[in-house]
Amino acid sequence: MPNSHYFSKKPSSKDERGKIVTMLRGRKYSFITSRGVFSAKRVDTGTRVLVENMHIPEDGDFLDLGCGLGIIGIVAASMMPELHVHLTDVNTRAVKLTRLNVQRAELSNCEVYEGYLYEALGDQKFDAIISNPPVSAGMHNVVHPMISGAYERLNPDGILQMVIQSNKGGKMLAGFFDDIFGEHEVVAKKSGYRVLSSCKC
Ligand SMILES: C[S@@+](CC[C@H](N)C(=O)[O-])C[C@H]1O[C@@H](n2cnc3c(N)ncnc32)[C@H](O)[C@@H]1O
Repeated sequence: MPNSHYFSKKPSSKDERGKIVTMLRGRKYSFITSRGVFSAKRVDTGTRVLVENMHIPEDGDFLDLGCGLGIIGIVAASMMPELHVHLTDVNTRAVKLTRLNVQRAELSNCEVYEGYLYEALGDQKFDAIISNPPVSAGMHNVVHPMISGAYERLNPDGILQMVIQSNKGGKMLAGFFDDIFGEHEVVAKKSGYRVLSSCKC
């Protein structure tokens, strides 16, 4: 069926809502979800490994790239009230749900955008860019431009952090990080996933 992926601009499935209630970094969160978005029934294992291990700056600008329901950005914004969190996704339904989830969490330090990769963000620069990237959308077509775009949009000393399944693209992602940033660090390894980080230092 065309247009039926979680990364479709307009999902063709019915917008049937559900709720995920979960603990992340020692706090309880609830997220409204729906069909046609990534990991609609539970927090994805890769997302959880990333959220539990990501470095969150105390202030500055933080981008959740490919935000889905907004889980990564909402945790960062809840933990660091001085941080300005930007969340963007190509999927219209995901963006709608992120707006709703930000509102339900009563966060005033979040801005939500809809667009392909960085297109909706103008010339905004960031201190951290974080993503559970859409590997199924294409490593070369989508994930590589996410990484090269991150280098252009990070402030000096800004960091890029991404999670990947170790045996499904782990080596390729590490190669992309090295090509663009010169090196990478593996900051966590858990449940078959690894979190990679590079600094624009
Ligand atoms: C693996 S999911 C992660 C979602 C969410 N961050 C999480 O961890 O639950 C990747 C997300 O990237 C979005 N995406 C796919 N292609 C994109 C693109 N070209 N530009 C922006 N977002 C995209 C998808 O719609 C999806 O929400």
